[in-house]
Amino acid sequence: KGKRAFIAGVADDNGYGWAIAKSLAAAGAEILVGTWVPALNIFESSLRRGKFDESRVLPDGSLMEITKVYPLDAVFDNPEDVPEEIKTNKRYAGSSNWTVQEAAECVKNDFGSIDVLVHSLANGPEVVKPLLETSRKGYLAAISASSYSYVSLLKHFLPIINPGGSSISLTYIASERIIPGYGGGMSSAKAALESDTRVLAFEAGRKKGIRVNTISAGPLRSRAAKAIGFIDMMIDYSSANAPLEKELSAEEVGNTAAFLASPLASAITGGVIYVDNGLNAMGVGV
Ligand code: NAI
Repeated sequence: KGKRAFIAGVADDNGYGWAIAKSLAAAGAEILVGTWVPALNIFESSLRRGKFDESRVLPDGSLMEITKVYPLDAVFDNPEDVPEEIKTNKRYAGSSNWTVQEAAECVKNDFGSIDVLVHSLANGPEVVKPLLETSRKGYLAAISASSYSYVSLLKHFLPIINPGGSSISLTYIASERIIPGYGGGMSSAKAALESDTRVLAFEAGRKKGIRVNTISAGPLRSRAAKAIGFIDMMIDYSSANAPLEKELSAEEVGNTAAFLASPLASAITGGVIYVDNGLNAMGVGV
């Protein structure tokens, strides 16, 4: 029987979330996505108008179907957390049930269970600032949107993840090596995410036999990466210095996620899996 996946953090066809959805769909999974509330209207209307049709093509020629798009804001766990200025914000007022707890409840009511949970989202309002110039508010916002969002997502979805299921997030090597320019506490947020991956693997493994891994991905020209401002330089640096000189494609990350979600990876949990043309293994540039 086919698996069902919920992928949080898809709002266009340029990011890792979209590529993961495609690889899972190509492997026969049913696809549900969680889309950031302010990006929901444009994503849904673009989908409807066929703007993504070219990028929906799967290896067998069919088009990826997204069974349902759920509004989601992963910095809020339940309605009591939502401040007045967000509740009354025009971009949020048109949607409902978009806190993490409510989204999980909606998926449960609609489908009963899932097999694969993917977290492909991050946000750091001060990402362009060096850590020394980052405010407490900016640092905590990065951790909230990029790290705790995953703890919360797994906590609320775990009860509906089927036995044998697995969960995957996306991280970046700035967690463990100095990457100047990846600021605002985003390097700290990725370090937390990787540490949490180990602890959550233990807790979700003991509780339900669910596997938890994170993919440390190389640079991709996504919407989020373009906002950081140094993505072209990072792609050039990787081509010049990584063991494999090719540009990384999002599909290569998607295929790794499909492998990690499959029974082929049944003994892999708590891991940071590098999908970066091997750049992480270099000690100096060439
Ligand atoms: P993206 O822009 O496609 O994905 C980020 C998504 O997060 C967007 O859809 C955005 O709407 C969503 N989002 C932001 N705040 C949210 C919130 N509060 N609630 C719900 N959704 C929210 O960009 P990308 O780069 O594909 O990012 C996906 C993941 O990959 C992130 O964790 C990122 O850090 C990671 N990554 C990206 C790399 C790159 O070079 N693009 C390299 C390594 C990791």
